[in-house]
Amino acid sequence: MSALLDVADLRVRYGHSLAVDGVSVRVGAGELVAVAGANGAGKSTLVDAVAGWSRGRPAVTGSVRLAGQDVGRLAAHRRAGLGLVLVPEGKGVFDGMTVQENLRVVRPPRGTAGRPYSVDDVLDVFPRLRERIAARCSTLSGGERQMVAIGRALRAAPRLLILDEPSVGLAPRLVVEVLTHIRDLVDAGLSVLLVEQNVRAALEVADRLHLLDQGRIVASGTAAQMREDDRVAQAYLGGLGP
Ligand SMILES: Nc1ncnc2c1ncn2[C@@H]1O[C@H](COP(=O)(O)OP(=O)(O)O)[C@@H](O)[C@H]1O
Ligand SMILES: [Mg+2]
Repeated sequence: MSALLDVADLRVRYGHSLAVDGVSVRVGAGELVAVAGANGAGKSTLVDAVAGWSRGRPAVTGSVRLAGQDVGRLAAHRRAGLGLVLVPEGKGVFDGMTVQENLRVVRPPRGTAGRPYSVDDVLDVFPRLRERIAARCSTLSGGERQMVAIGRALRAAPRLLILDEPSVGLAPRLVVEVLTHIRDLVDAGLSVLLVEQNVRAALEVADRLHLLDQGRIVASGTAAQMREDDRVAQAYLGGLGP
């Protein structure tokens, strides 16, 4: 079976430094695949390259396929139009606008193959946001902001949702809450590529997990296998997870 997302031999170079060194990742339909690694491992560089975003001027080689289509040369907005939607780390929300305004301004692209979520659909996913619908986003907690960011991504009708460290800066209870919502979306049919520094949290919800170290995948397996993996245990001890 061909994967919904098929990233093969991706390399991303900033000048002379190779931040992502030959990474291959596949995400099947309805699957939650996590890539975990320490700060600086290359997680954001990887997902930015997959989504077609660029910070600085990275040189990217390798292939990115969505549902069999080579999207690796398309601009970010074209990839998003095909359903490859990224929630970047710590971004994706307009602070000066209310929750409702943030959700309303995003419209699904015309003719999208992804599932369009209405504002109401998003509020069904994140009931906590219903109570805060009229609140300005600058007044939200970190967890609520992350829910708005994911909600905005859902409004854009993703086929494949990419999340860059949704747990960052959240209280432990909210990490569980946000990741549980993500798992629920996957169980309802969405496909997700999740990037996390928090390996332990990622293992709670992922179907499969890859460990990224200095731009390379050093271990891969199902969540059950990876819970037993020495390298994952070392990653905890090395301060990767809380
Ligand atoms: N715009 C950039 N220009 C040069 N180097 C960068 C840039 N962004 C990230 N890097 C470097 O690439 C490596 C990977 O960074 P990053 O992808 O942000 O890691 P992570 O998201 O896993 O913390 C780091 O060594 C970082 O310093
Ligand atoms: Mg990052």
